[in-house]
Amino acid sequence: SIPEGHSLEGFCAVGGDSDCGLSSHKILIKGGTVVNAHHKVVADVYIEDGVIVSVRSNIRVADDVKVIDATGKYVMPGGIDPHTHLEMEFMGTVTIDDFFTGQAAALAGGTTMHIDFVIPINGNLSAGFESYMNKAKKSAMDYGFHMAITKWDDRVSKEMEVMVNENGINSFKFFMAYKGSLMISDELLLEGLKKCKSLGAIAMVHAENGDAVAEGQKRMIELGITGPEGHALSRPPVLEGEATARAIRLANFVNTPLYVVHVMSVDAMEEIAKARKAGQRVIGEPVVSGLILDDSWLWHTDFTTASKYVMSPPIRKSGHDKALQAALSTGVLQLVGTDHCTFNSTQKAFGSEDFRKIPNGVNGIEERMHLVWNRMVESGQMSVTDFVRVTSTECAKIFNIYPQKGAILEGSDADIIILNPNASFKVATASHHSRTDTNVYEGMTGKGKVEVTISQGRVVWEDGKLKVTPGSGRYIRMPPFGYRFDGIEKADAAYLASLNAPVRRTKATA
Ligand code: URP
Ligand code: ZN
Ligand code: ZN
Ligand code: ZN
Repeated sequence: SIPEGHSLEGFCAVGGDSDCGLSSHKILIKGGTVVNAHHKVVADVYIEDGVIVSVRSNIRVADDVKVIDATGKYVMPGGIDPHTHLEMEFMGTVTIDDFFTGQAAALAGGTTMHIDFVIPINGNLSAGFESYMNKAKKSAMDYGFHMAITKWDDRVSKEMEVMVNENGINSFKFFMAYKGSLMISDELLLEGLKKCKSLGAIAMVHAENGDAVAEGQKRMIELGITGPEGHALSRPPVLEGEATARAIRLANFVNTPLYVVHVMSVDAMEEIAKARKAGQRVIGEPVVSGLILDDSWLWHTDFTTASKYVMSPPIRKSGHDKALQAALSTGVLQLVGTDHCTFNSTQKAFGSEDFRKIPNGVNGIEERMHLVWNRMVESGQMSVTDFVRVTSTECAKIFNIYPQKGAILEGSDADIIILNPNASFKVATASHHSRTDTNVYEGMTGKGKVEVTISQGRVVWEDGKLKVTPGSGRYIRMPPFGYRFDGIEKADAAYLASLNAPVRRTKATA
């Protein structure tokens, strides 16, 4: 019979130190090249009850331990996707992947944790948080939350404190686009930046000028351009560059770290490069679609094909992709997300007469690790250690959960992948694990295959088969004041000292 808490496939969903007799509590990964962001070495990795116990050569174990031979393969921290939207209500519909199907897809592609965005309900942060904690009950892997801020008043400001100090959130996203729904003004953004700074939370921005996007959309409709190509034409790179520059300058004025999500254009990337060069704490996140695709798909005559590439900011002309790859490989941009936000072809068809009604978003949670490996490492643009940094470690560091996550070290969570650099992958809707009926990477092939995924110390992906259990995923709390805040107060003191202004006495103190 099956012990309580175990699935039919015969692995433990209990975790902890329960001794059910199933060997999957203890795993030895033998002979692989263990890769961390700081170092790589040939070693064995021994795991017990969800935690990495030992990383060294020639570990000997008893017969009840599952042994995986990783000779000639890379043993790396599971991917962490900093940017997903599972079961999100958006543009009149709901993303098709929920916390179970999206995470199953993630695990099959070597991602073992993701950070999703809580959307407040009518501006109410607590209600939004509760709703997302409910949606996430079916989780099959570890997850964390950012929170979007969509309006501003004293209550929102107070609730941000609760989110950080009680609910384990340490980042807030401000939308400078989506006029009439999620967009916020500069005044609100400034308030938000100040609040984030005081709480030690990372401020994130969706950087596009929402007013100008609305104007650009009007322009396209007046010209009779109603197809998916109108999406790209209505919101050109200059609008992304403008908003990125504005957000960077406001964050500079407040002196707080800024995280720019989904950097899609040279225009935005160069603003980030310039600010970083001047010493500002700016983090840039490219997403897989921006690194790999170009906008030619949006001109495809078949609406179903073209519409699946509609996301914001738009996928850009060929050339932006290569510039973003170069920026990633040289450290101008720091970590790769997906913005996994899937709508099926029926949902995309809401905009068949008007591109403004096409729900924005593309898939990628399952494909990210393979596509980044193939494009960056296999092409010779990036080292294996840097691959680990941009797909896992840097995310764990920025959101202050390192080295519990993002490392293969004694005491770290046993979220591990084994990648065979000599095997190949192929992306196909027919075999992907997302619930959606299309794939923006359809047909893409390359070298490097995630052959094994271990999540919380259990093998969940092996021999092309998934063994996942809804409810086994854990909410990972992310504490405030991550490393990007180190020294902020010294910079503030230096600013005050630099004012060189006399301290004026009031009548009372004169
Ligand atoms: O098109 C996109 N990116 N959809 C998801 C929402 C967002 O802006 O991240
Ligand atoms: Zn068990
Ligand atoms: Zn966005
Ligand atoms: Zn997004």
